[in-house]
Amino acid sequence: MRIARKKVSNQTAEMPEVDLSLINPLVEKYRDKKGNLIPVLQGVQGIYGYIPKLAFQKLNEDMGLRLSDMYGVATFYAQFRLSPVGKHIIKVCHGTACHVQSASKITDALEKELGIKDGHTTEDNLFTLESVACLGCCSLAPVMMIGDETFGSLNAKKAARVIKDIRRKEAL
Ligand code: FES
Repeated sequence: MRIARKKVSNQTAEMPEVDLSLINPLVEKYRDKKGNLIPVLQGVQGIYGYIPKLAFQKLNEDMGLRLSDMYGVATFYAQFRLSPVGKHIIKVCHGTACHVQSASKITDALEKELGIKDGHTTEDNLFTLESVACLGCCSLAPVMMIGDETFGSLNAKKAARVIKDIRRKEAL
């Protein structure tokens, strides 16, 4: 599932302040390089965790990349995000092996624990919850990943406990 855009109430929230100078090395690296569109967008997302609206404008001005091309690619590929995500991205696998092992119960438990729906980000920007296809470790089904860490053989209780542990560490 693509991560849903958070509902925002004003222009400032729609376009959060970002330090666009962070993009300069990417501009230098990829300026005038053939096939630079996807690597540049990946680079921008690597910096901010998503592709800010203002970054599209900067790339247009500094590199001559067309806005329509950039938006086309960024909205076509699921890897790209157009809105901010939480510090911890929780990927719950809903591939076949995890599906038959009740992955939906994991998502339900996480939605309850986090107080958000699948595809959304918590108000404190700590967590984003998303459903994904096979994570490649089916023998551990049902599985979720948070950052680089994999949690397998889950049940609703275990999944909720993982979130509580992260919250506790974040509060220290
Ligand atoms: S189906 Fe979930 S890890 Fe493969």
